[in-house]
Amino acid sequence: MTQLHTDRLTLRRWRDSDLEPWAAMNADPEVRRHLGGPLTREQSDASVARFEADWDRRGYGWWALAVRDTGEFIGFAGLDQVDEGMPFTGVETGWRLARPAWGHGYATEAARTVLAHGFGTLGLPEILAVTTAGNLRSQAVMRRIGMTRDPAGDFDDPSAPEGPLRANVLFRISRGDARRQ
Ligand SMILES: CC(C)(COP(=O)(O)OP(=O)(O)OC[C@H]1O[C@@H](n2cnc3c(N)ncnc32)[C@H](O)[C@@H]1OP(=O)(O)O)[C@@H](O)C(=O)NCCC(=O)NCCS
Repeated sequence: MTQLHTDRLTLRRWRDSDLEPWAAMNADPEVRRHLGGPLTREQSDASVARFEADWDRRGYGWWALAVRDTGEFIGFAGLDQVDEGMPFTGVETGWRLARPAWGHGYATEAARTVLAHGFGTLGLPEILAVTTAGNLRSQAVMRRIGMTRDPAGDFDDPSAPEGPLRANVLFRISRGDARRQ
């Protein structure tokens, strides 16, 4: 299923018209604060090409997020294979919103639907989420959707430079735990 709907959002495949607002988000240092700094337009466009290739190859990935009423593009949410080189394997969820879209509950709303899709349609046994120790907003989304921090999973991201991006935390939710909520 490549398109999902929530009360206020559409999760859909990427369109050419998303490239510009996506690049604007990725040029915003606040949006990229925990992600390794702003991206150039080329890097931003290349990320969408990778997302779409992932979708074609394996049938899941990062959805573009749009507000249902207006069609406005506001960011992404979805599922991805944990990068090689991480100290654990599995499928992770994540989210990224343009700054004006923060504080509306959109990430949580999208993420709940992403989890339901991951456990239901894709039949995943467990979904992980990873972020820097300092990214409290993202960790709050994880908690709101019922994920639990696994303190044994704390790790230093080997691909991050020395500094605040190094220390990372791991959250988990199993299909059983999601069902019980
Ligand atoms: C991480 C990120 C998506 C979180 O965004 P967010 O706006 O804090 O999270 P939500 O969309 O779930 O919104 C929750 C907030 O909306 C508020 N809210 C307002 N209206 C709401 C509604 N109708 N329903 C639910 N919540 C609502 C909540 O009270 C909460 O506010 P609070 O932060 O003051 O407690 C955002 O900070 C971001 O894009 N950061 C940069 C990219 C990034 O770091 N991504 C994660 C990488 S791991």
